[in-house]
Amino acid sequence: MSRVVTVRVPGDKSISHRALILSVLAHGASRIQGLLDSADVRSTADVLRALGADVARHEGDALVVHGHGPTRLAPATRALDCGNSGTTARLMAGVAAALPFESRFTGDASLSRRPMRRVARPLSAMGAEVELSDGGTLPMRVRGAPLRPLDWESETASAQVKSAILLAAVVANVPVTVRERRRTRDHTERMLRAMGAHVEQDEAVVRFAPGYPLAPVEWRVPADPSSAAFLAAFAALSSGVEVLLPDVCVTPTRAGFFAVLQRMGAHMSIEDRREEGGEPVATVRVRGTAGLGAAAVTAAEVPSMIDELPLLACVAARASGDTVIEGAAELRVKESDRIAAVVAGLRAIGVDAEERPDGLRVAGGDRALRGAVSTHGDHRLAMAFGVLAALPLSEIALDDPACVAVSYPDFWRDLARVSA
Ligand code: S3P
Repeated sequence: MSRVVTVRVPGDKSISHRALILSVLAHGASRIQGLLDSADVRSTADVLRALGADVARHEGDALVVHGHGPTRLAPATRALDCGNSGTTARLMAGVAAALPFESRFTGDASLSRRPMRRVARPLSAMGAEVELSDGGTLPMRVRGAPLRPLDWESETASAQVKSAILLAAVVANVPVTVRERRRTRDHTERMLRAMGAHVEQDEAVVRFAPGYPLAPVEWRVPADPSSAAFLAAFAALSSGVEVLLPDVCVTPTRAGFFAVLQRMGAHMSIEDRREEGGEPVATVRVRGTAGLGAAAVTAAEVPSMIDELPLLACVAARASGDTVIEGAAELRVKESDRIAAVVAGLRAIGVDAEERPDGLRVAGGDRALRGAVSTHGDHRLAMAFGVLAALPLSEIALDDPACVAVSYPDFWRDLARVSA
């Protein structure tokens, strides 16, 4: 008999950022239930406040935003510090591009290494002035202007770029089309529609038509599939525990990891499917299995599990056979170079792993995993190796377990509950 543990993981990070930003752009009071209270989401709330938005302080996971539309936003008296959060910098660059003043964006050492030309280019094409450091990184100055319509073909599969363009269009009230090679997470589109905006989606092409003011919404933020994935993975690799994860956002653009885990042979089911606030949600149930098989992840699947790939590489270390991930060069420009860092971490605990330009190969096995892993201050690496560390016979030391505060502050407590 398995021990059954139910964990409602915290609110989705991507949806939490968007709920704050979109509520500020609406006219009227929006209440956000289940907002993720983490360092990244606080960065977005603080940036909005610095621009004069009326965003209440977090009270647990509920928060009220009094939106007065974009015209009430005003120049900040200081730089907008986005901390570790790429979503804050890129989405708010989109908003700033349409505001009639200059904003200056900064971030921590990790964010200051990440590429910003990908948002600077389309926002400049719309008529904003965007100035980056020579490397195309932060600090970033955005001088807003009355923007032009845009039809943009995005060379990187990035929901942040797509969302920056959509937010600029919403604030400037101009039409835009964004064409992606592969469809990325579509929360901005879904949430804008829930507020009454006109957004059409046709495969990987998104069109926004202006003219419909944003109505305030009672948001209910579903549980974050990227956080749920860690506990699901632990359950799949263990024996004697069954984990139930309610309210998880299982929208197809986010659910790739669960599909791959199932393909590897995990005993799992997605139950009680329903729609909440425009997003499909469900309970994810996972229990241990005698052994997982290896997986092959192709470029087409990558956007639906981009943040879960370090975890998949760690799970693969415990599967039988070689797992290969390809078409994932974007991992190199996340909070750390996640290809280099995950391969180095796996090797440090005795796993045969190989770095490739756009992915990696991991040889699975069942020997005890022992060694010291550097997280590079990257929350997803800390949690992925934390899952391996919690397995029987592992002796893995992490240099910076506290960095999980970026997306899942109570991760260690929740992992201890399922692994007890
Ligand atoms: C996010 C998009 C993805 C993801 C990030 C959150 C978002 O980044 O990795 O954690 O909320 O739009 P990219 O847009 O750079 O792929």
